[in-house]
Formats: sequence, C-alpha cells, structure tokens
Amino acid sequence: MLASRNPDGQARIIGVVNRVRTDDGSGTAAVDRVRDATDIAAVIGETVTLRRRGQKLWGLCPFHAEKSPSFSVDPARQLFYCFGCQVGGNVFTFLMRRDGKSFPEALAELADRAGIALPDRVGQGGGRRTALLAVLSAAQQYFRQALLDSGGQVGRAYLERRGLPASTVSDFGLGWAPDEWEGLLGSLRRLGYPVADVVEAGLAVERDRGAYDRLRGRITFPIRDPDGRVVGFGGRAVVDDAGVPKYLNTPETAVYHKGRILYGADRARAAWSEGRAPIIVEGYMDVLAMHRAGLFEAVGSLGTALTVEHVRYLRRFTSEVVCAYDQDPAGQEAMRRAFMVLAAEGIAVSSVDYQTAKDADELLSAKGPEALVAAVQGRMPYLARRIRDGQAAVHVHPEAKARAVREMRELLDAMADAVERTEYAALLERAWGVEQKILSQPSRAKQGPAGNNSEKTRHNMRRSEVNLGPQGVEVNLLASLIQFPDLMEGVLAALPELCRDPRWEAIRDHWPALAQEGAASLATWMVRLPPAAQELVTAAAAVPWPVSGDLVMELAQQVKTQWREREWRHLKSVADPDDPVVSAEISQLFQEISASKRAPRREG
Ligand code: UTP
Ligand code: MN
Repeated sequence: MLASRNPDGQARIIGVVNRVRTDDGSGTAAVDRVRDATDIAAVIGETVTLRRRGQKLWGLCPFHAEKSPSFSVDPARQLFYCFGCQVGGNVFTFLMRRDGKSFPEALAELADRAGIALPDRVGQGGGRRTALLAVLSAAQQYFRQALLDSGGQVGRAYLERRGLPASTVSDFGLGWAPDEWEGLLGSLRRLGYPVADVVEAGLAVERDRGAYDRLRGRITFPIRDPDGRVVGFGGRAVVDDAGVPKYLNTPETAVYHKGRILYGADRARAAWSEGRAPIIVEGYMDVLAMHRAGLFEAVGSLGTALTVEHVRYLRRFTSEVVCAYDQDPAGQEAMRRAFMVLAAEGIAVSSVDYQTAKDADELLSAKGPEALVAAVQGRMPYLARRIRDGQAAVHVHPEAKARAVREMRELLDAMADAVERTEYAALLERAWGVEQKILSQPSRAKQGPAGNNSEKTRHNMRRSEVNLGPQGVEVNLLASLIQFPDLMEGVLAALPELCRDPRWEAIRDHWPALAQEGAASLATWMVRLPPAAQELVTAAAAVPWPVSGDLVMELAQQVKTQWREREWRHLKSVADPDDPVVSAEISQLFQEISASKRAPRREG
C-alpha cells in the first residue's frame, strides 16, 4: 500500500490496485521487470544517507526538513515511507517526487539503468526521448555558433542593446537563429539527424514539401530540464513589431512539458538547496536580470500558469516561494492564480513590488542590481499585501468592500494551512472589520454540513447534498481512466452520479481533449481544471502502476457503493425516524448497498 499526503497532512492510501498484474501487452510486464531489476535502496541511497536498523534502512527525509531520521526504506518489500511527512511509495514514486519526473520518465530512467528495453508505448519511448535530446543538443550548438559567426551580427547587436553582459549570454547559452528557412535543418541534416526528429523536437515545422526552421531571425533561449539538458527553445524577435510575436517557443514534446519545466531551474537548484526560497518571474529576460543581480534562486514560468506539478517540484526544496510577476494587471492576475496553487500545497507565498518598473529586467536596467535586490528583500506575504492595499477602499466603499471580501474569502479558502488561515482571518477582522464567521464560510460549497438536523425536511436530505470527499477508490478509478480514456463513457453510463461532484464534472467536461491528446499530455491538460479537480488528477497520476482497464467497472461500482454508504449514514443521522417516506428510502438504500456488496467480484 502506498500513501500520499493530503494538504491537511493525512496519509491517503492510493495503492489499492497496485498489486494487480495483467499480461495483456499493456506494458505491465515491462514495468514489473524494471522494478524487479532495480534496488530501491541503491537508488534512494544515491541521494539519502541510509543506515540499517533492524529490517529497514533509515535516513533523513528528502521531502521535508528534519534533524533526526524518520525516513525508512524497506529493501524486502522495495518500498519507502516517511513517518514524519507520511510520504511513501515505491522506487518509481520516489523518482517522481525527487526529480519531478512523470511515471513514464521515471520508468524510462530505471529501465535505462537496468539495461531493459521498453516497448515504445510504455516508456513513452525511451529511445525517442534520447533521439530528441540529441537533436536539441545539436541545435543548441548550432545556435551558439551562429551567434558568434559573422551572420550573427544582428543578434549580437540586439543583446548589446539589451545590455546583457557576455558572461550572462554564455551562462544561459543564448544563441542566434539565422533568418533562413533551412539553416538549422540543413546543418542538422548534414550531421545525420533525420528531419522527422527535428520536426518532432519542435525545431522545424512540417509543410507540404519538406519542412522549415521554426525559429528564424531570433535570439534563442535554450530551455533546460533541472538536469541541464536542453528540452526546448524560446526565440525572441529582434525588432518590436506588432506584426510578429515577441517570443516564439518550441511546442510541447515528449521531452518538454510546459507544466513541469521552470526556466532556469537547472541553475537555481543549487541556491534552493542552500535554503534560498525560489523566486518566480514571468519572462526569460527577468530570470537573466535576477541572476545578474546575484539572485540565482530565480526561475521563470514563461508566461504560462504555475501548475500543481511545478509547485510539487518546488516543495521538495522549500516552504516559501517568492512571486515576482510583472507589475501590470496580467501579472497581478498571474500572481493571484499562483497563490491559489501554492497555498493549496501549504507553501507560504510572498510577492515582490517593483514600484514604478514593469518587471525585473526593467528595474535592473533603470536602477541597477541593488534596486532589484532591495525589491526582493522588501517582499511581503501576499495576503498581508492584499489586506494592506485594500485598506483604504473597503472603509469608504461598501461595494468595493463586498468584492474585496469575496476575493479574500476565495484566497483564504485555497490555503491548506489551517493555522495560517485563521491568523489571516483574524487580521482581516482587525484591519477591515470583517467578521471572521463570514470569512470562514466556504465560498463555493453550497452543501449543507452533514449531521445538521435543524431542518429535518426531506428536501434538504436530497442525495445531491451529500458531501463527497476525495476517496482512494476514486483516485484509482481516475488513474485507470487516464490509462484507458475510452472507458469514461461506460463509467458515466453506469455511474451518472459521479458528476454531481464538481471535480468529476469538470473532468468529464474536459475529457475529450485528454482522450485525444493522450495521457502524456496530462500535465498540460489538467491546468484547465479547477484546483480541487487538479488535486484529484495529481493524486491519480501518482498511482504508480499502470492499472488494468478490466478493473475500471469494478472500481466504479466500489465508488458507487461507497457513496451510497455515506449517503445512508448521512440520511440516518439526520432523518426523523417517524417519517415513513424517509425510512423507506433509508431501507431501500441499505438493500441496494447490501446487494452491490454481494455482487460477484473479479479475482484480483
Ligand atoms: P513579456 O511580454 O513580459 O516578455 O512576457 P519579457 O520576458 O518581459 O521580455 P522582454 O523583456 O520584452 O524581451 C513574459 C513571458 O511570456 C512569454 C515568454 O516566455 C516571455 O518571457 N511570451 C511572451 C511568449 O511566449 N510569447 C510572447 O509573444 C510573449
Ligand atoms: Mn516582462
């Protein structure tokens, strides 16, 4: 059994179906082989110093800060578990957590080490990944050289105009994509790289007859994974012309997932390990500016929203994140959304005020590195800033106050840390004169609290009002559906109640996109979902074994039974025993539950 941590710190069992094996060619056998060929103690031992005590090995937990070891590895069962933070799992989960890898990536890495060739579909193509990384690395060399060549004059002049020192340009490996249709393509072809690989890596665009370079006449910014491998590029135009996009980026590929990569993480990682809180900025140029000011802990989210995956990766290093988004309204909205995701993961969020400058790069250019360092040092907890900034308006303008309170309630709602939430509610009461009671009413939940028997009417016991919390079985159901998206239709037919839960409703609404794009795009797909649904998807993505499609209907049945049981308990707790209609409903539910439990089960 495997446990993962809820925002509220409770362990949650997510591994109910992990023991299931099938040999239907879905790759489960390959997964087994890789796991059997791998020693979890050796893998974990690479980064955690382990000492044997009894049956287990113990060390300091890499997932939370601690002084005495509560992190255990069980070599016999090939599992790890931390008694401090309740994180646990197998060797795949470990790599996923430690390196922010997806399951296929963790699998591919371990297969590589064990010298096991994976069927392409399973490892998401370990071979494909290697091929793409090779092409990207060759492209990086080409762009670097092009910047130095005589043809790179335009690029060099642009970098000079932006005031970038040569050391920054080389540290970050900036390059130049010549303004040619087949500059990169021609060069890579001569080096023996297949055009199809160049296209698949996102470096060239396919057209009717052949292909052409995606980035032309632009400064190139290599985007690297945390291990420093180039996985994509951004290209900045050298003229500011409304007719051309300022930046063009290579698309998502098997090696580049926007929801997972933070620009500059390969360089920032060392600073985080020294205990410096990550700074998140919007743009490439802002990351460069921060690093020029000695703030090596800065990374860029590259204009996309911060995802749960980004945050879980950062959480390995830190309990605080500094957001330094642009000063404009778009930047402030990005800041608010980032807060929602970070706070839900229990991370303290502070924000930086650039005052009159638009962003980090502008502040550095206008006022120098000291000003940028001072701005970062002057950061404030995001909520405290919002409370302070709202102060004036809420005391003179009732509508402004109502709106501000609603916004604040949503922010408080997102916070996983109950103690902090209460503290902020108290602060708001003092500062804005808002009753704490109002703040603690969840803004979205309309469901009556279970056990509320003030109004014992039949109406308020309608089934839809039963509160459906996250459940291990649901996580497993979703995990199987992600593997076999086509089965969703059947599940919805068997279990229409599922979509009474707003999380499932959102998942259903966006399902066709996932079914089309495939599980590999999970990270980007789920960004469209509300945070609670993202949480469910993330939990499902963490189920470490590809589950069998045969199990889906059974899991759906289990979810249904669970809900009925909860409903039954709820009805019983609020019902008036003398009401014959309600009593009849309760006993019918009871019979349904008993019947579904007697239903024949597949052998596990
Ligand atoms: P900005 O417009 O703030 O650009 O977009 P910037 O980073 O400050 O760049 P400079 O200083 O004008 O050169 C922030 C980020 O959003 C993404 C890029 O990652 C950019 O760094 N973006 C922006 C795009 O992908 N495409 C665009 O057309 C614009
Ligand atoms: Mn900017």
